Amino acid sequence: MSSPISYEIVERVAIVTIDNPPVNALSPAVWEGLDEAVARAAHDPDVAAVVLIGAGSTFVAGADIRIFETLTTRERSLERSAKTHALLARLEDCPKPLVAAIHGHALGGGNEVAMACHYRVATRDAMIGQPEVHLGIIPGAGGTQRLPRLCGPALALEMCTDGKSISASKALASGLLDEIVGGDLRAGAVKFALVRAAASDSHKTRERSDRIVDVAAGVASCERTRAALTKAARGSPAPSAAVDAIQAGIEHGFEIGSRRERELFADCVVSVESRAMRHLFFAEREVAKIPDVPKDTPTRNIRRAAVVGAGTMGGGIAMTYANAGIPVLLKEVDEAALQRGLATIRKNYEATVSKGRMTAEQLEKTMGLITPTTRYDGFDTVDIVVEAVFENMDLKKATFAELGRATRPDCILASNSSTLDIDEFARASGRPALVLGHHFFSPANVMKLLEIVRGRETNRETIATSLRLSKRLSKVGVVVGNCFGFVANRMLAYYMREAYLLLEEGASVPQIDQALTDFGMPVGPFGMQDIAGIDVGARIRQYLKAIGKTRAEGPQSEIPDRLFEMGRYGQKTGAGWYKYEPGSRTRIPDPLIDRLAAEAAAARGLTRAPMSNADIISRIMTALANEGARVLEAGYAIRASDIDVIYCYGFGFPRHRGGPMFYAQTVGLPTVLARVHEYRARFGDYWQPAPLLERLVAEGRGFYTETAGAGVSVGT
Ligand code: 3HC
Ligand code: NAI
Repeated sequence: MSSPISYEIVERVAIVTIDNPPVNALSPAVWEGLDEAVARAAHDPDVAAVVLIGAGSTFVAGADIRIFETLTTRERSLERSAKTHALLARLEDCPKPLVAAIHGHALGGGNEVAMACHYRVATRDAMIGQPEVHLGIIPGAGGTQRLPRLCGPALALEMCTDGKSISASKALASGLLDEIVGGDLRAGAVKFALVRAAASDSHKTRERSDRIVDVAAGVASCERTRAALTKAARGSPAPSAAVDAIQAGIEHGFEIGSRRERELFADCVVSVESRAMRHLFFAEREVAKIPDVPKDTPTRNIRRAAVVGAGTMGGGIAMTYANAGIPVLLKEVDEAALQRGLATIRKNYEATVSKGRMTAEQLEKTMGLITPTTRYDGFDTVDIVVEAVFENMDLKKATFAELGRATRPDCILASNSSTLDIDEFARASGRPALVLGHHFFSPANVMKLLEIVRGRETNRETIATSLRLSKRLSKVGVVVGNCFGFVANRMLAYYMREAYLLLEEGASVPQIDQALTDFGMPVGPFGMQDIAGIDVGARIRQYLKAIGKTRAEGPQSEIPDRLFEMGRYGQKTGAGWYKYEPGSRTRIPDPLIDRLAAEAAAARGLTRAPMSNADIISRIMTALANEGARVLEAGYAIRASDIDVIYCYGFGFPRHRGGPMFYAQTVGLPTVLARVHEYRARFGDYWQPAPLLERLVAEGRGFYTETAGAGVSVGT
């Protein structure tokens, strides 16, 4: 195999190019090649300086994340990091000026290599960051030590704990960059390197201390960051480990700080939290790969869109399109409903302006992309329509029939239905190949998940277009099958069933919610329902009752319907599972719920008894994983990892647990299966193990292959 590193000399400058597509990740061959190339330049009498540059669209996006799977023990990690640190010290010891020339991204190990160089120049649009915390690790190639020495502790702490990249101009202002190159990067870097060679003033980052002379202030900065992290980190240990490593370097110098970094990196890389987050990194990229929709499937260019219904969801969907710069028609039944919808949209944008995340001018420009209407005029100019009228089959079918007439024959028709059969809408439209579900999550302009629901006749072009469009809309699009509730809400029914039953058996609403938030969910099941509206679920149950179905098998708790009858819809009515003071979202436990639970328990002959938070988590997570296995086996989800992505982006499942399927695997599938059997014995036959779960346990396999966390389904 040819080396990913090339070496050439231009005007007495050795140009060392990293060419390891697609993102020049630091594979072992790249590390080795860099070491050799810099050593060669150091000894080459024809060379006065060295430029390190990336081929293709980026400098270096970091260490090769797949390699971390080989760091199975702390000792292995320590050994490898020690070698990497030594290699970077060798680069830094190069007697000739070593200049990193950055374009695209310098991320993680990419920035760490750049910081081991004596100088850094970059294009104006380059982005620089230490995103390791998103993978549950800390910078492991000296980043926690060199970054504060270049840009000071405050920015270093911010970058290493929030993982966000900074612009080239910010990097220049902070001292991380030495120059922004206006024209050709390579030529600019060569020129810069020659000037430095003439001045012969190269300095090693590790020997600098001018940015951290005030040790007490640096330590105080670390302590402030640590205190602020508790909530934001939501259970991932990496951000505070990054602070510890930075603090060690500030207090005890580069060598001790580097040793601490290696130890903390090793702790993190072998942790289940990091494995979970690495799994999600690949899972998120895997979702776009649909077995029968090849990468080169033609896609339609979406230039104009329309949304039908300006309620909670329609308004948010119109904002999503406008935010992406796509003009959108927004249709309502009458002027009053339209004005209500527009007023909500404007209020949402005004809140963004007041937080300083949008200017008043941008607000008007974005609002200008939304054209309100009460008619179908202009629908013949759009490339896609998203229907978001009430969740009512007859109304939706009538709407699709109208859309079939009002739009061009090549216009895609998508429904935001959260439960109903897409194929029925498809038939009503007279254009089934171009009909599918685009299931957004509330609030649609905020939540990142988009379930792309494939109908029986949806064609490949429509799927490929939807996947491409989801990226443009800043969403993570996941293709799912057409079943009641699709993947997210179908599984949620089991999550909620257990929450209701646990309440009847003796747990309280605040206890169940607390157990789930301690687990890492942003909000517990009851708090979530108070936000979404108890009426929404109640109406779905009424519809299902009318057609003789239930959402999840097993006993159906009466309590949610009783709350609905009392008009307790949640936050919007000032009471639901909790009470709310006017204008406040603070959840106040309500003894009424305990009375309702006691009545429900008595009616079912149950004696209510206290239970532990661990029992609560076990019941709810077992139900979720068991149903996930069924969804997978039925082919409604393509891969177990797609379910993980759906739960993390749709419901805020904690990323450091990797999603419900990954979590089940960390618990151990034999344990999960044993729990299903135990619950069946205790509660009844509605607990049935998913056949896929039984088969995997019998065969000693898991939901994923053993490779690099890139969850590959074994189920469909
Ligand atoms: N290692 C291995 N593969 C990587 C990778 C990495 N660091 N970064 C990206 N890839 C792969 C992706 O998996 C994807 O593969 P696929 O085509 O087979 O699915 C391909 O490169 C393209 O990636 P994206 O689809 O994400 O491309 P985008 O253009 O949308 O984004 C990017 C490019 C901004 C560079 C983005 O890929 C990214 O953020 N990468 C990860 C950056 C990162 O986390 N770096 C830190 C790594 S850890 C580290 O460096 C530790 C060190 O401190 C020792
Ligand atoms: P909503 O009640 O807030 O809004 C529906 C809007 O559609 C109303 O403003 C109504 O006037 C309008 N409408 C009805 N018929 C119309 C027609 N023929 N032409 C134009 N407008 C019409 O309902 P919501 O919550 O926005 O739900 C809409 C859809 O989104 C439903 O299918 C629902 O299941 C789905 N959904 C809802 C979520 C939620 O959390 N609320 C989440 C995901 C999907």
